[in-house]
Order: sequence, then structure tokens, then C-alpha cells
Amino acid sequence: MDLTGKVAVVTGSGRGLGLAYARALAAAGAHVVVNDVDQQAVGAAVESVAAAGGKAVGVTAAVGTTAAADELVSAAVEHFGRLDVLVTNAGILRDKVLWKMTDDDFDDVIRVHLRGTFSCARAAAVRMREQGEGGRIILIGSPAGQRGNFGQTNYAAAKAGIAAMARTWALELARAKITVNAVIPVAATEMTKTIPAFGPAIEEAERTGAPLPDWIRKQEGLGTVEDVTGLVTFLASDASAAVTGQAIGLGGDRLALWSHPQEKAVDFRDGGWSADEIAAAWSEGVGARPETFGIPAPQPPTGN
Ligand SMILES: NC(=O)c1ccc[n+]([C@@H]2O[C@H](COP(=O)([O-])OP(=O)(O)OC[C@H]3O[C@@H](n4cnc5c(N)ncnc54)[C@H](O)[C@@H]3O)[C@@H](O)[C@H]2O)c1
Repeated sequence: MDLTGKVAVVTGSGRGLGLAYARALAAAGAHVVVNDVDQQAVGAAVESVAAAGGKAVGVTAAVGTTAAADELVSAAVEHFGRLDVLVTNAGILRDKVLWKMTDDDFDDVIRVHLRGTFSCARAAAVRMREQGEGGRIILIGSPAGQRGNFGQTNYAAAKAGIAAMARTWALELARAKITVNAVIPVAATEMTKTIPAFGPAIEEAERTGAPLPDWIRKQEGLGTVEDVTGLVTFLASDASAAVTGQAIGLGGDRLALWSHPQEKAVDFRDGGWSADEIAAAWSEGVGARPETFGIPAPQPPTGN
């Protein structure tokens, strides 16, 4: 995939998935604005991204404010003359069950993920519309946002909101030929190591350098951070011009298109529905096959 001449901003690219995306975009020829809240990580990431290919410049800033978003877009324009691709990857976790979650836990996660994605995408859309040559806005969602996840009120809400914004912006920016998609990644990081079914296999893979077992890479869709980069590079490229408004999963060997919410069962009653009528009809009507929710627990193969 050739991204020569394109300029990308990747938020939260000091480490982890963001750094892998930035390196992959640079390796394909793009110039990249690296961003993180952690100044040291930005310095190291700029070197790593530049070594991978294109030119890189670093901006230390905490996304979540209009000022930070404007700074990132300005850096792309000042250093490289334009902006073609935005990847909104910066993120934090503040996991707690609902009854223990504080206002700060909630607000911090919403600010970085939801407001950070909104403010960066808005600044990018303004610039891309001025350029008049289209663009690519790649949002980062999560299985937690698609399905709900125990202990992640704040994070699931933010990520579900991000998927909803992708659909909304795909509508609003279509005329300007700016595509907007949500990537739903899964990768072995410090975070996923804490899942008991994956931890030992991830540590073994790190120790030996061998790939994760097939059932983890395929069935659970979990691999390395590098495994996710092909999707981000594709979505950044001219080859994905017709792909917009989608939520696309990649992890390990598993590439997936997520469904969007839609009515699954419908029933009609002349004159409408009272509570008693809903109760009487529920279990054999629209409620006959209720939806599942939550991320399914990992299912290691039995018998070995
Ligand atoms: N690892 C996974 O399996 C997984 C699964 C689903 C979604 N995600 C999402 O992918 C993204 C990256 O995840 P990761 O596992 O690489 O996490 P990570 O914690 O390794 O990296 C996140 C980076 O974002 C930076 N950051 C935090 N707040 C910031 C802010 N306000 N401004 C700028 N940078 C900030 C951090 O310093 C860090 O370098 C996140 O949005 C995460 O929610 C990850």
C-alpha cells in the first residue's frame, strides 16, 4: 500500500497500538504527527516512526480539548503542508463497577476518548474540507463499546459513542469525500495480559518469540499490535475510498465487519401497546429471542 505524499496524525502514538499504526503509516510512505500525553514516549516514538519510513514530528499534548486538537492539525499543516489522515487512538482506562465509579473516573475516560475523538475529528474535518481533496478519519472503538463489558461503564459508553459518531460523520462528510470508519482492535498489550485465559499464552509468546496459539489468533481474534496495522493502513489509503460508516474488527488472524444496531423483531397492534399488552405478548412476541450482551468469555480448546 503506498501512502506517499499523505500526512497523518495519530493520537496516543507514544506506545502500544498507536505507535504501531504510526510506524505502519510511515513505512507506507506517509509523514506522521506523533502525539502523546507522555513527553518521553513522544521523543522515542518520533525516532521509531522516522526509522520506519516517512518523516515524523512529535506533539506532546493531552487530547480532550479544542486547543490540543488544533495543535495537532496545525503541526501537520506547518510541518508537512496538509492533513489527509486522522487516527484517534489515545485512550485510558479507569475500570470500576458502577456503584464504585467516581465522577472523575467517568469524566476522565469520557474526556480522553469521546471528547478527544470529537474535538480532533472536528479540527481535522475543518482542515480536510478546506483542502477539498477528501480525507480519512479513522476512529478507534472497542469490543467493550460494541457489546458492553463488566467494570467499564465509562469506557463502554465512550467507545459506543465513538462508533455512533463514525456513522454520523460518515453521513455528514460524504459530500467532501472524507470517509469515517471505526476500527475495533484487539491486541496483546499490558491491558489484555491481565485476562486470565490469555495471560500465560501472551507471556509465553513474549518469552519465546513464537506466535500466539492458533485458537487465540483466530477464534478470539487476539494477536500483536502489528497485526492491527494492516486495517489502519488500508483505511488510510486510496484503496478504501468506498468504505465509510463501518465498524471493522481486526485482531490476530481475524478480520470482521461488525453489524450496526437495527430492529431485530417487530410486532404491531392496532391502537398501540399498553403495559399489560406488552407483558402479555412479550415472551412469544418481540421478546422471544432477546439479544445477548457482554464480550463472550474466552473459550480455550478442551482436551489438550
Ligand atoms: N489493546 C487492545 O486490545 C484494545 C482493544 C480495544 C480498543 N483498544 C483501544 O486502542 C487504543 C490504544 O490502546 P493500547 O492498548 O495501545 O493502550 P496503551 O495504554 O498502550 O496506549 C495508549 C496511549 O495513549 C496515551 N494517552 C492517554 N491519554 C492521552 C491523552 N489525553 N492524549 C494523548 N495521549 C494519551 C497513553 O500515554 C498511551 O501512550 C485505545 O483507544 C484503546 O481503548 C485497545
